[in-house]
Amino acid sequence: MSTARPHPVIAIDGPAASGKSTVARLLADRLGFSFVGSGTLYRALAWGLIQTGIDPADEAAVATAFGTLDFACGLERGRSWVAINGRRLGTELEEPATNAAVSPASRVPALRDLVVDRLRAFRLDCPLVMEGRDIASVVFPDTPWKYYIDASPEVRQRRRAAQGQTDSVSDRDRADRSRASAPLVVVDGAVVIDSSEIAPDGVVEAILADLAAHQAAFLPAMPN
Ligand code: CDP
Repeated sequence: MSTARPHPVIAIDGPAASGKSTVARLLADRLGFSFVGSGTLYRALAWGLIQTGIDPADEAAVATAFGTLDFACGLERGRSWVAINGRRLGTELEEPATNAAVSPASRVPALRDLVVDRLRAFRLDCPLVMEGRDIASVVFPDTPWKYYIDASPEVRQRRRAAQGQTDSVSDRDRADRSRASAPLVVVDGAVVIDSSEIAPDGVVEAILADLAAHQAAFLPAMPN
């Protein structure tokens, strides 16, 4: 049996458009870790389901259909990628139809199990900063590094609009918080950061300061 210690994971959870993916990307680059946006895996499957003509709100249909999709994901140069039926996905993940399908599809427990397995496998390769809704609660509950990034609903809706997106973050919040399977929660021990008035760099500094205060062994030596 291997006695190697698992790679460190920094879990960053939070509601839609709280700025967590920008923060997670910056943090990963500062630490030399890989960045994984777990939402892209759910989005890829939601997009694939749309292509097969499945109604994402039909839980039974989703539960049978997602397994027929040829779904692949991996890490390349510090970032995760996703593909359906051999097609690497980019802008498809942000299409309005994908925005609308992703929360209903990601309620389905069997689909979540598949994604959680893939997310855990990334840790076999390298240290990670992973962001999502259930990274601290379900995917890596053993990590000591848990952050929850929030912002007011008004600020989040504005940030979403600034990305050129017109979907309602409050509708997605409601769906993500109220679902039975892995709802969005703040776990015990998570450090909550309200980013309403703080730019991404400031949030990254706050996380680095917390990691330093807890003497995280993976931190690069800081200049005095
Ligand atoms: O738009 P935003 O970046 O906030 O969301 P995302 O991270 O791309 O996630 C899109 C949707 O996928 C969420 O609204 C959730 O319904 C679902 N999701 C999830 O259920 N669990 C995760 N770990 C990540 C995303």
